[in-house]
Amino acid sequence: MSLEGKTVLVTGAARRVGKSIALAFAARGARVAVHYRTSALEARRVAEAVKSLSRAEAEVFRADLADPRAPQRLADAVARRFGRLDVLINSASLYEKSPFALASPEDWDRHMAVNARAPFFLAQACAPWLRRSGEGVVVNVADWAGLRPYADYAPYCASKAALLCVNKALAKALAPEVRVNAVLPGPVLPPEAMPEGERRKLSEATLLKRLGSPEAVARACLYLADSADFTTGAELTVDGGRLIA
Ligand SMILES: NC(=O)c1ccc[n+]([C@@H]2O[C@H](COP(=O)([O-])OP(=O)(O)OC[C@H]3O[C@@H](n4cnc5c(N)ncnc54)[C@H](OP(=O)(O)O)[C@@H]3O)[C@@H](O)[C@H]2O)c1
Repeated sequence: MSLEGKTVLVTGAARRVGKSIALAFAARGARVAVHYRTSALEARRVAEAVKSLSRAEAEVFRADLADPRAPQRLADAVARRFGRLDVLINSASLYEKSPFALASPEDWDRHMAVNARAPFFLAQACAPWLRRSGEGVVVNVADWAGLRPYADYAPYCASKAALLCVNKALAKALAPEVRVNAVLPGPVLPPEAMPEGERRKLSEATLLKRLGSPEAVARACLYLADSADFTTGAELTVDGGRLIA
């Protein structure tokens, strides 16, 4: 499908990978709903960049997706502003270290709420608009570690595994009108504070012996949205071969 004039909601779009996704869709002429939670200034800058890239509309929307009422409110606000919604990209995510001996039920619940529950209920809230689009698409940004967990991040990895199940459940629930797929990034943009030595280890652990880029994830989202017209319920790794290394 052509993304020209379509409306895309990208969660966690103010910074890092979500920002790259928002700008990639803008470059194809899409109108972008830029969701953020705390990064208000960065979100406004992304919206300005979208407007200058695509000369299309852009708007920022604040929501704490740990709040069970947030998905419906966010979907309503976006639909009210743009009058349509064609693509939902669930990219916002909580990523906190939770070593086995220290992990708490609260760590678990926070990760599940933001990374698995919110994408489900956001898709539910957006469903009427996505169906009406005629070419509705959901892309869930998961993680290769949802298939193969690494140490010290069990609540995060389990929440991404849950998101992969949500991905398939949504593909069934929203068919045949709406396609739903997941992108599973590997190391594309480590946390800013990660020491150089650890970054090197991350690169070495991939088959391609390098880190990816946020743009690679954005291109996968674009592919699933505008080209993969016979693909639903699928999982696309963008991980330099990390999963099978
Ligand atoms: N970076 C990587 O190498 C990598 C690797 C594998 C998978 N991924 C996946 O790719 C996606 C993007 O990665 P990233 O590194 O850019 O993510 P990130 O920086 O960890 O988080 C993205 C955004 O999520 C938002 N967020 C966090 N908690 C929230 C909440 N309670 N409610 C609403 N928004 C919330 C934050 O928005 P505010 O800043 O506005 O608060 C944040 O900027 C994520 O789903 C991540 O799991 C990334």
